[in-house]
Amino acid sequence: MSNLLVTGGAGFIGANFVSYWRRLRPSDRIVILDALTYAGNFESVASLCDDDVCRFVRGDICDAAAVATLFKKYDFDLVVNFAAESHVDRSIYASQVFTRTNVQGTHTLLDAALAAWRPSFQRRRFHHISTDEVFGSLGPHDPPFTETSRYDPKSPYAASKAASDFLVRAYSHTHGLPVVITNCSNNYGPYQFPEKLIPLMIMNALAGEQLPIYGDGGNVRDWLFVEDHCAAIGLVLQHGRLGETYNIGGGQEMANIDLVRLLCDEIDRRFATDRNLAVRFPACPAAKGNSTRALMRFVKDRPGHDRRYAICADKLAHELGFCAQTPLAKGLSLTVDWYVNNEDWWRSIVSGAYREWIALQYGAAN
Ligand code: NAD
Ligand code: TYD
Repeated sequence: MSNLLVTGGAGFIGANFVSYWRRLRPSDRIVILDALTYAGNFESVASLCDDDVCRFVRGDICDAAAVATLFKKYDFDLVVNFAAESHVDRSIYASQVFTRTNVQGTHTLLDAALAAWRPSFQRRRFHHISTDEVFGSLGPHDPPFTETSRYDPKSPYAASKAASDFLVRAYSHTHGLPVVITNCSNNYGPYQFPEKLIPLMIMNALAGEQLPIYGDGGNVRDWLFVEDHCAAIGLVLQHGRLGETYNIGGGQEMANIDLVRLLCDEIDRRFATDRNLAVRFPACPAAKGNSTRALMRFVKDRPGHDRRYAICADKLAHELGFCAQTPLAKGLSLTVDWYVNNEDWWRSIVSGAYREWIALQYGAAN
């Protein structure tokens, strides 16, 4: 049995991971530490925290005293650090909070782990969750990023994640802290905060609002279903070699415009087979038998928009036998189902601060 600290566990990937880990190792004790910023949602984990096995603590990873108290109280063997400011577009408007949480917060956690775990690191492991965006942007014919690709972050978000990765590596090298780092491609699936591409498009489509596509829509991302990401994290957390970094990806590259088309067609199919949807979402074009694609609009590009990400996940496949299980078409179908069936979850989010952001980013008319 292990004691596990999951920071950022009320966010998209963290919440999915807590659910995954509870199924994988039901006797492990879990503490979720999350500040519940605009992106964190207690409802995403409420049903997982209804017993003694899983505790929710609202707190800030930059708060050294609070973090040290938690380490003392729960004697963590394992730490998985998901907590972060995670939205590139927000980092273009205001990036100081990204340095604070992603760099200073990770630094605070590293110091707490070091202080609590010294002198013996046996059984202990600090798993830092990072992104493929630290490697920068690829041209159309470049080979995918490997673990040894040069760090070349282009957005303030990616720069802050790169800095946090370097701190984690430095604590491993300098202090011998038992760390692993995973760099993953774009995730999608249940509980993703609806300002990221896929949930935003689903929610806007259901509401009959425009589907804003940045630039020419030709930017390419490598999409991974969140459950596959959680399985890969589980493998690395248990069996990854200490001090190593592992890339995680689905090998499923797609241009944004093609992805949005797929989503629109998926939504049209739902409405064609479930007549009740037209009653629930009358503003969606599909409610009247029209194509949801009619809502697609090209809008001003994101400044410094990375053109292409692609991940080589061979190391993870060879060392730990990981292979993503969910084809993109199936994952998108599951994701559309989830958002259609969990309207309460996203309705509770699309108020206040969320609306302010959408107005700032896309214009009040949207
Ligand atoms: P998210 O924004 O949905 O969740 C982040 C969580 O961190 C939220 O619950 C938020 O409340 C919490 N948080 C923020 N600041 C905090 C602080 N100071 N103290 C404590 N908690 C705080 O993000 P996500 O998409 O779930 O991403 C999780 C991690 O995975 C991040 O580190 C991100 O960089 C990385 N990642 C994300 C993707 C992706 O496609 N979403 C891909 C690769 C890597
Ligand atoms: P996003 O989900 O923000 O992830 P990231 O920027 O970390 O890759 O965006 C995914 C892609 O979708 C990215 O190329 C930007 C694009 N995008 C749009 O075209 N329109 C949108 O409204 C959003 C949010 C993103």
